[in-house]
Amino acid sequence: MHRMLNHSKTESGPETAGLTIHWAWEYDLFTSLLGLGVHGANSRMVVEMAQIKSSDKVLDVGCGTGNLTLTAQKYVGPSGSVYGIDASPEMIEVARKKAKRNNAATMFEIGLIEKIPFPEATFDDVVNRLMIHHLPGDLKRKGIAEIFRVLKPGGRLFIADFMPPSNPFLAHILFPFVGHRMMRFDVGVIPPILTEVGFGDVASGKTHSMILGFVSGKKPDA
Ligand SMILES: C[S@@+](CC[C@H](N)C(=O)[O-])C[C@H]1O[C@@H](n2cnc3c(N)ncnc32)[C@H](O)[C@@H]1O
Repeated sequence: MHRMLNHSKTESGPETAGLTIHWAWEYDLFTSLLGLGVHGANSRMVVEMAQIKSSDKVLDVGCGTGNLTLTAQKYVGPSGSVYGIDASPEMIEVARKKAKRNNAATMFEIGLIEKIPFPEATFDDVVNRLMIHHLPGDLKRKGIAEIFRVLKPGGRLFIADFMPPSNPFLAHILFPFVGHRMMRFDVGVIPPILTEVGFGDVASGKTHSMILGFVSGKKPDA
């Protein structure tokens, strides 16, 4: 299980200080078993908490194999559009194949959070699940500032990432499954960064998942 959660530096794809994942098929299988797959319980929870709705234009940053991205596609319907970017070509390849299998119009591109390949004020919603802990400190701020840039005025960011359980017994039980580095990360450190780059309505807290918390914010209206 630990091997499944070991990350490697970029072997192909654009240069980044973020930790990229190149074992895409194994990742996809592993996450599907955990309810993180397309239309899985966790994916639906994140899309609903992000308040993604019909006709929205959505970006999933660090989309991996596209599980959350393809779930969002269902919520925006035919009048909306959904894009996923990831630094790993292997993840994007699997995501594109899944979009084809699901007959989904979702578009996947190789791209970095620190240099999002879209013009400013493009999206209604940006989502980001289990990705922000892959970035070193300065890149977290740079990436969140980029998300702010590509959001439309009034657009929303929703981040779901690790929040260690407050119950020490539960934390001990989950440790071997989730891994040391991830259990040390706490998404609760992210809200000040949102405020610093200009987000308003910054909120954070628990989700229904035992190990995921959330942070959200809104780009002020023009
Ligand atoms: C744990 S996975 C999460 C994937 C997906 N969001 C999910 O919920 O299944 C983290 C992803 O972030 C990607 N990543 C790491 N650094 C990145 C960067 N600088 N820009 C974009 N993606 C990056 C990795 O390649 C990996 O696919």
